[in-house]
Amino acid sequence: MIDGGHVPAINTAWAAWVDNNDPLPSGLPTEFAAYLRQVNRMPSWADPAKLARAADFNRRKDTYLFMLYGLGSGIMSTVIPREAKSVYWSAGGADMQDRAAKTFTFGYDLSQRGAFEPTGQFVVTANKTRVVHAAVRHLLPQSPHWKAVADETIPISAADILVTFHSLGTFVHRKLLDWKIPYPAADQEAFLHSWQVAVNLLGVPYEHIPRTWAEAEAQSARVLTPILTPSTEGIALAEELLGLTAQIDLGVTRGFLNEFVRYVLSDEVGDWLGLRRDYAAAALVRTVWPAFILFREGLSPVMPGTFYMFDQFIRALAMLFLNKGSSGTTTPITIPTGNRRG
Ligand code: HEM
Repeated sequence: MIDGGHVPAINTAWAAWVDNNDPLPSGLPTEFAAYLRQVNRMPSWADPAKLARAADFNRRKDTYLFMLYGLGSGIMSTVIPREAKSVYWSAGGADMQDRAAKTFTFGYDLSQRGAFEPTGQFVVTANKTRVVHAAVRHLLPQSPHWKAVADETIPISAADILVTFHSLGTFVHRKLLDWKIPYPAADQEAFLHSWQVAVNLLGVPYEHIPRTWAEAEAQSARVLTPILTPSTEGIALAEELLGLTAQIDLGVTRGFLNEFVRYVLSDEVGDWLGLRRDYAAAALVRTVWPAFILFREGLSPVMPGTFYMFDQFIRALAMLFLNKGSSGTTTPITIPTGNRRG
């Protein structure tokens, strides 16, 4: 479709294709429409009760999820070399705010109530994402820049997608447990299930998807932890991402952001990315964040003085990525037609 020049028309045609039960847009190439008819549906093993609980869980824990996905997983992606190099050298790498907004669309649609139901939007968002990934698999091997730095011939394999899942779902799961946030077994199972369905919709075959969090943690220790390392592209992306969040400027300094990243990911990662130390902010994060959690969870009556700052910051972060600072709907996902040029 890229070689045939069909992509701009497809991007226009599928803009109005949003809800899971929307008919497929008209005017798609026949083979593409036939492909979408096959994959644009829930897997037979999906459990609606668990998915409903996952949506409810996502709502209840949204504050932590925003912080962990945004500043934890988002920055971790920059020390996953294959991902950093793909993202940097694809067309979207040139506009990180737009890209971050699109990735947020995925997380946002995934966490909405009824996301997987006919009136929800997640099945469509996941399928659009799968098509974007397919386009990238075709395009990046034509990029001289990417080819010069990549250690693979085709990017974004199912294995790569599982690695990214561990930087998102498995990472967040571990942090919620480490932070002793109330997180009953039924929530844990529901959260895992929503990710199982999500990665399957992104094309990962059922047999490779972890069945339990114990399996996920074991797989993550095997496939994610050992590959984390800095790269030129990753360092540049991290700098851009952290620069974006600094735009919000609600009294939250860059030093605070750097230290929050160090707190959730480790000093080793912070050093790799050259995140300047701010020891006052480090002390604040390490004492006030646990107190903020206790207070929010009703486990302590003492409200930290900086509660308001944290709350406003999280809200602003969400607004920046979802709406790019203006009001309106989420950023539509479109198929790229080229790579980043330099
Ligand atoms: C695009 C999510 C795995 C590289 C996207 C988009 C979403 C997304 C929502 C569309 C937004 C956009 O157009 O920028 C995910 C999720 C993953 C995953 C949820 C796994 C759970 C990966 C992996 C790689 C990757 C493993 C590379 C190794 C890319 C690239 C783009 C993209 C290069 C296109 C950027 C552009 O040029 O616009 N992904 N992704 N993704 N993803 Fe992924």
